[in-house]
Amino acid sequence: MESDTSGRTARGHRAPPCAIVIFGASGDLTKRLLMPALYNLARARRLSEGFAVVGIDRTPWSEEEFRASLAEGVRSFVSDTGGGGAVAESFDPDTWDFIAARLTHLDGDATDPGIYQQLHKKLQEVERDYGTGGNVIFYLAVASALFGPIVERIAEAGLAAEKDGHWRRVIIEKPFGADLQSARALNERLLNVLDESQIYRMDHFLGKETVQNIMVMRFANGIFEPLWNRDHIDHVQITVAETVGVERRAAFYEATGALRDMVPNHVFQLLALTAMEPPNSFAADAVRTEKDKVLEALVPLNGEDATRNVVRGQYTAGIVRGQPVKAYREEAGVAPDSMTETYIAMQLGIDNWRWADVPFYLRTGKSMTRRTTEIAIQFKRVPFGLFRDTPVDALTPNVLVLQIQPDEGISLQFGAKRPGPEIRLGGVRMDFRYRDYFHSEPSTGYETLVYDCMIGDAMLFQRADSVEAGWAAVQPVLDLWQRNKSTPLEFYPAGTAGPDASDQLLLRSGRRWRPIS
Ligand code: BG6
Repeated sequence: MESDTSGRTARGHRAPPCAIVIFGASGDLTKRLLMPALYNLARARRLSEGFAVVGIDRTPWSEEEFRASLAEGVRSFVSDTGGGGAVAESFDPDTWDFIAARLTHLDGDATDPGIYQQLHKKLQEVERDYGTGGNVIFYLAVASALFGPIVERIAEAGLAAEKDGHWRRVIIEKPFGADLQSARALNERLLNVLDESQIYRMDHFLGKETVQNIMVMRFANGIFEPLWNRDHIDHVQITVAETVGVERRAAFYEATGALRDMVPNHVFQLLALTAMEPPNSFAADAVRTEKDKVLEALVPLNGEDATRNVVRGQYTAGIVRGQPVKAYREEAGVAPDSMTETYIAMQLGIDNWRWADVPFYLRTGKSMTRRTTEIAIQFKRVPFGLFRDTPVDALTPNVLVLQIQPDEGISLQFGAKRPGPEIRLGGVRMDFRYRDYFHSEPSTGYETLVYDCMIGDAMLFQRADSVEAGWAAVQPVLDLWQRNKSTPLEFYPAGTAGPDASDQLLLRSGRRWRPIS
């Protein structure tokens, strides 16, 4: 089913009535991201009067306690960020009252079929009491092992059926599978009981304004597109560097690592938006088909390439932002001989007309020197005729940098003549910063995604085929690591830009990573 996206450029209206059922209502994600997002939507008057939340989890809360706990979460966001962050500057009691009056709770185990009978009744109640119109979003903010079972129980209880013009949708958080096989199996399981149009696979990077802007920048400006190809672009670098380490997620991270955690999802979304062909429209499937085609055209990292073109790293002790950081292997819950990578760099090619022979370098890591997410498009150098006497290194390459976070903006680097009698070149930069031009509303990044699900626009969600294409591209690397336990793990001190071996990945073709610090 094609979603109606005709309103994508004029979407300030209220979402249709609906209930949102949150599985994992007492979890961190609900408290830190989802509730602040609902609060922000309510404050911007984008929620319907006919809105209600049903929280489900195993905490035996009364409805009062449930409300109080979530209110405290939203309030602490206000004070944590002091405005300018996830929620507005001051806690607005009227906005909170709007949400609180619509919050209800069910205490039970999401794998117990009995709870779905209660949920059935609850949904009838909220439809009657709040006017939710029979529309429901089931939000799965739970461990990934529960995705399949919960969706099956929802369907068994008849809650997934779309009747009489009412819709039923499911939002699924990541991780969507742990490899190609498990992602396929999960898709199959979900598609057994739901239609693809009911499934909203979340990648929170797509909720970021600057990620959405990649498409606008490319396709709303005539100057970029003619240059956006193998004739003019030397290579592309995508960096997602984090300063945080494994935090309290060792159990998850040990089994996951940087490749699974970041690449087939977030980093590939950035790659696909950078490399896709112009879609026919902003309709969800038009955009998603073009993105999917990029992932399907990735040159497989088979044989030698899975070793030659991939560097995995792990942080040792170091200093991050002035604070001492333990080695990954010394973190609580991490095996002392852990081979889990906290850093990954890879070189990929895209086998299509636009990008053949243009290397795409990707890197992401934890405990690095600075938090930055950027896409750098490096253009080819000029022919050297006129600057024969200038050392190659002194010729400033033209680089267009899309800075995704923090300090969101776009910059273009080019060469200019240094003042003086001789022709000497200096590298200069033209900078655009979002904050200088636009006032942005406080946001967790989830507002757009939740609102889009309410209005049935799946453009910013992942379709089954692209989730699988993402996993398929990294599967040869996962297989190699599984088969060959002695694939090198390169160490880097916390607070640096990653292991030396990742510099070699570029140096062998005379290229360099952009500095992170
Ligand atoms: C999550 C990963 O999906 O994305 C985390 O599991 C990572 O390990 C996070 O830290 C990064 O997201 P953001 O929005 O903080 O850049």
